[in-house]
Amino acid sequence: MLRASFLYLSHRRGLQRFVTGQRLTASLAYRFVAGDRLEDAVRVVKEVNARGSSASLDHLGENVRKEREARTATEDYLAAFERIAAESLDANVSVKLTQLGLDISPALCAELLGRVLERAAQLENFVRIDMEGSAYTQRTLDMVLEMHQQYPNCGVVLQSYLYRTLGDVARANAAKVRVRLVKGAYDEPETVAYPKKVDVDAKYAQATRELLAGGVYPAIATHDDRLIEATKLMARELGLAADRYEFQLLYGIRRDLQEKLLREGYRVRIYVPYGTEWYPYLMRRLAERPANLLFIVRSVMRERRAA
Ligand code: FDA
Repeated sequence: MLRASFLYLSHRRGLQRFVTGQRLTASLAYRFVAGDRLEDAVRVVKEVNARGSSASLDHLGENVRKEREARTATEDYLAAFERIAAESLDANVSVKLTQLGLDISPALCAELLGRVLERAAQLENFVRIDMEGSAYTQRTLDMVLEMHQQYPNCGVVLQSYLYRTLGDVARANAAKVRVRLVKGAYDEPETVAYPKKVDVDAKYAQATRELLAGGVYPAIATHDDRLIEATKLMARELGLAADRYEFQLLYGIRRDLQEKLLREGYRVRIYVPYGTEWYPYLMRRLAERPANLLFIVRSVMRERRAA
C-alpha cells in the first residue's frame, strides 16, 4: 500500500516542485544522492574507491520532454567521462534512455546514446543502461542489443519481477551483453510482474544462476543478504572465481554489507546518483523501505525542539 503510494507520487510533477523545495526532504534525499553537482559525485566516488569499491555514476534525470534537455544530459555524461578519466577514478556511468529523449523520439535517443558510447569507448569505459518501467523494457533491450554490436562497452539492467525476464536473460547471454540484475523498482501491474515478493526473489535466484553460468561479468545488484549468500554459493558450485562477477549496491544503503563483501574478497560497485532531479529516485527509495520516512519525522521533531 505505502509502496504503491510512493510510486504513484514519483510521477506527480507538481508535487516534485514542492517537495524538492523543502529543506527536510532535501536532507533525506542526500542520504541517497551524492549532491547536486558532478563535483559532489567525484568526491563520493573518491571515498568509495578509497574503501575498495568501484562506482557507477548516475546523473539523475528521466522522462525528459524537450530535446534541449536530452542534449544537455548527454553533455553532462560526456563531462562525467572526461572527469573520470582525468582523475583516474574507478567508475563507469549509468544512463536512463528516457533521459536521452526516448519519449521524444527513438532516433534522437539512439543518436545521443551513440555519442556517449563512442566517447566511453575511446576512454575504454563502460555505459550501463538502467531499466525503467515495463513500457520501456522492449525498447530498451532492443536498443542495447543493437548498439552492442557496434559498442560492446554497453550493458543492460534486467528486473526479476517481470514475467519475461528469464527469456531476456537468455537473449542477453546469447548476445554476450553484460547484465545487471535487480528486483525492479517501478509500480507494475500483475499482468506483467509477479505481485508477491517471494516469487520476485525466487526468480532473482533463478536469473542469477543463468547469468553466472552463461553470462558475461554479471552484476548482482541487491541488498538482500539471502540472495547475496545464494549467489556466492552458486558461483562456488559453478567454479566461478570472485573476479568474474560483481555485487552492486546503492549509495547510502547497507554500508555494513559493502564492507563485509569487500572483507570477504568480493568485487563491489556502488551506484552513485547526483544532480538536482532527485525526486522520483527518492520516491522509489521510500517505496522500497517506507521506514526511511521515519528519518524525516525524526528530523522534523529535532528541528521543532531546537526552535
Ligand atoms: P529488498 O527490497 O528485498 O531489500 C533487501 C534489504 O535491503 C532490505 O531488507 C533493507 O535492509 C535493504 N534496503 C533495500 N532497499 C532499501 C532502501 N531504499 N533503503 C534502505 N534499505 C533498503 N531498479 C530498476 O527498476 N532499474 C534499475 O536500473 C535499477 N538499478 C539499480 C542499481 C543498483 C546498483 C541497485 C542495488 C538497485 C537498482 N535498482 C534498479 C533498484 C532495485 O530494483 C530494487 O528496487 C532495490 O535494489 C531494492 O531491492 P533489493 O534487491 O535491495 O531487495
